[in-house]
Amino acid sequence: MPHVLGIETSCDETAAAIYGNGKILADCIIRQIVHEEYGGVVPELASRAHEKLLAAAVDEVLRKSRLEINDLDGAAVTYGPGLAGALLVGVAFAKGLAAGAGLKLIGVNHLEAHLWSAELQYSDIPTPFLAYIISGGHTLLVYVAGFREYQVLGSTQDDAVGELFDKTGRMMGINYPAGSSIDAYALKNNSKTVEFPRARVKNDKYGFSFSGLKTAVLYYLKANFKMQGESFDLNESEKESICAGLMASVADMLIRAAELAFTDFEARALVITGGVSASKFLRNRFQKFTENIGAPLFIPSINLCTDNGAMVAYLGDRLYRKGHFSDLSLPVEPSLTLAY
Ligand code: KG4
Ligand code: ZN
Repeated sequence: MPHVLGIETSCDETAAAIYGNGKILADCIIRQIVHEEYGGVVPELASRAHEKLLAAAVDEVLRKSRLEINDLDGAAVTYGPGLAGALLVGVAFAKGLAAGAGLKLIGVNHLEAHLWSAELQYSDIPTPFLAYIISGGHTLLVYVAGFREYQVLGSTQDDAVGELFDKTGRMMGINYPAGSSIDAYALKNNSKTVEFPRARVKNDKYGFSFSGLKTAVLYYLKANFKMQGESFDLNESEKESICAGLMASVADMLIRAAELAFTDFEARALVITGGVSASKFLRNRFQKFTENIGAPLFIPSINLCTDNGAMVAYLGDRLYRKGHFSDLSLPVEPSLTLAY
């Protein structure tokens, strides 16, 4: 059984993990906090922070698993999609391990790693399944017939769902990343829910667009509230009504596409991953939906949903055992897609 190190530096999490003997032996996720004051990820700061933190993350997983670099067989690393400079830090580090310690280099597609992350927790996910990857950077609905048999049914034409939450959160004076607070406000709401539109994309059955919803929130805020500093002046109950409306629109849009997909494809389960799947509001709605159609729902625990090294090590192990290695010319691919 190989021991595979997974390295993840595509955005603002510096993460490493080791997969061996059929399980994750050690895992380390360092969330970069430098971005908070800017209200979003600053690419240059992310690269610099990865440079500072990655060696420590790798040291930690080696220490926790009581392994030495020479005990490892493969170095799996996310090479796309993501921020170019941030990806480069991880890829250069993995290449160093490959060249210096003789590990097999394995380039991992971040989206494919998310796709299979649920398997780390649930061993009984039946194929074919439908999967949502919903994060700050991606909103993707994928039909998964089997390994490397993917059909991306829909993706966002503009903002990702997490990005929508972070941007509208900023308008409401909610700290970045705003998703979990918006979720909490939405769940707490017991007064009026503000009505926002549900967008459809012309000639793209499964396509998503969230920028119209973002603009609708902005117009609603402009029409009803005053700016105070950089955001609108709202009390807690007003935030609750708006967040409930925002969440309801997003939930309806996501569930509508899933419903269409379950009609068009013979899928046996729904898998949801990505940071936004931490949302209790969305989980409840997905739960009700899958109960109604009689399909099982698999949402991994939150540390596996947000960016992590475990999913990279896990997919890296699979690729290792299939002999899918990369050579030292492995490029970073910031716009990598799920096409195989
Ligand atoms: O997957 P992730 O950690 O990073 C990438 O974007 O790749 O996702 C982060 C996103 C952020 O936009 C954040 O606002 C959102 O996930 N998020 C949530 C929740 N927790 C994090 N959105 C809704 N409800 C949550 N509980
Ligand atoms: Zn991600």
